[in-house]
Amino acid sequence: MLTRRAFSASLLGTLLAPMVPQASPAATEASQATGSLHQAARTTGRFFGSAVRSDQLASEGGLLAEVVRQCGMLTPEIHLKWNSIEHKQGQYWFEPVDELVQICRLNGLALHGHTLLWEQGTPAWALRALRRKKDWALIENHFARVLTRYKGDALRWDVVNEPIDTQSGRKNLRRNTFHQVFGASYIERALHTARAYAPDAVLMLNDYSFEYDNPVDADRRKAFLQLLERLKADGVPLDGVGVQAHLDLGKGPLKRTVIAPFLREIGQLGLEIVVTELDVKERDYRASPSVRDSRVANEVAAYLDIVLDEPAVKGVVTWGMSDRHSWLKVEPGDRTNTRKYGNPAPNRGLPYDARMRAKPMHNVLEQRLSGRNV
Ligand code: G3I
Repeated sequence: MLTRRAFSASLLGTLLAPMVPQASPAATEASQATGSLHQAARTTGRFFGSAVRSDQLASEGGLLAEVVRQCGMLTPEIHLKWNSIEHKQGQYWFEPVDELVQICRLNGLALHGHTLLWEQGTPAWALRALRRKKDWALIENHFARVLTRYKGDALRWDVVNEPIDTQSGRKNLRRNTFHQVFGASYIERALHTARAYAPDAVLMLNDYSFEYDNPVDADRRKAFLQLLERLKADGVPLDGVGVQAHLDLGKGPLKRTVIAPFLREIGQLGLEIVVTELDVKERDYRASPSVRDSRVANEVAAYLDIVLDEPAVKGVVTWGMSDRHSWLKVEPGDRTNTRKYGNPAPNRGLPYDARMRAKPMHNVLEQRLSGRNV
């Protein structure tokens, strides 16, 4: 968990004067070389956003300046999760989210509410209490507190995060604490509860591994569609879905025949789609940085060429801006004989490198989001 102590810098001071802090030389270079991804997306009626952390924005002025320039929407990467807001029962830590809200308000950006209910984002005390008391009020109180506080700021909410598990789930639903305590209907219950406190927000389910032509992803697509169909048939207040899109160069190739029908079916249910966590995991780190960057950019191009043909897709969000902060790490099974190029880390799967220089992935995003597919 990110602790209060770790979060020492105050963003608000940085923010209010001057509003956009001085960019580092690297960021200035990037700014001159690139257009705004959100402006590009707006030309086709969509938005572009990124996951961010308040502490990183506070300590890296270049990052903050570029985030504000590039994005129309910010997703708190960790601060809105229950275990960040209420790590200890009854002790609330809203400051990092409030600071992101300030950035959004001052710069005309929207906030994406990530996420209300996710076992991995739930504090241990709440999981214990849910198992012991089996009382939905614990969840309802959390929803009420967060949804009321950010009403008007968060346009969309990932109400339930990652409910699908086709490998060890029960009827393809993850056997998490919520399922164990309240049964499969915890999902609709969460959506109804969210609707009560956020009447105007777009309520979403957010999940991963829908992209590739392999049996696991195929089962996951099928299970997700079945869940969505059931929820819509039952009149549950579900407005959209997040497809995370953690792309993976070890799983390719991406196929239109696989992805397009899946998205079409979601669109036909009347749901909007947001690409919520786009990044690319590399598997082979032995080539030069420029070759690696081309592979990443090509994967993103292939994905966006399919996805942006679907009108239900409203926006694209990357899971961070700079490789410096990527959650993706070089793993033991990856190919890393890198005598020629040195340490292969970090993974290069985001639009900017670790020094905030825009990479080919940025160009691809800009082209595709603006509808220029060449
Ligand atoms: O800040 C503490 C630090 O003080 C402590 O020393 C360290 C020890 O582990 O932990 C630090 O907190 C970590 C936090 O990120 C901030 O870095 C947590 O352990 C770590 O669990 C947390 O990871 C986040 C994870 O969600 C869980 O909240 C990742 O940054 C974030 O990228 C990841 O995002 C998820 C999405 O929410 C859902 N989809 C998948 C995606 C990637 O896993």
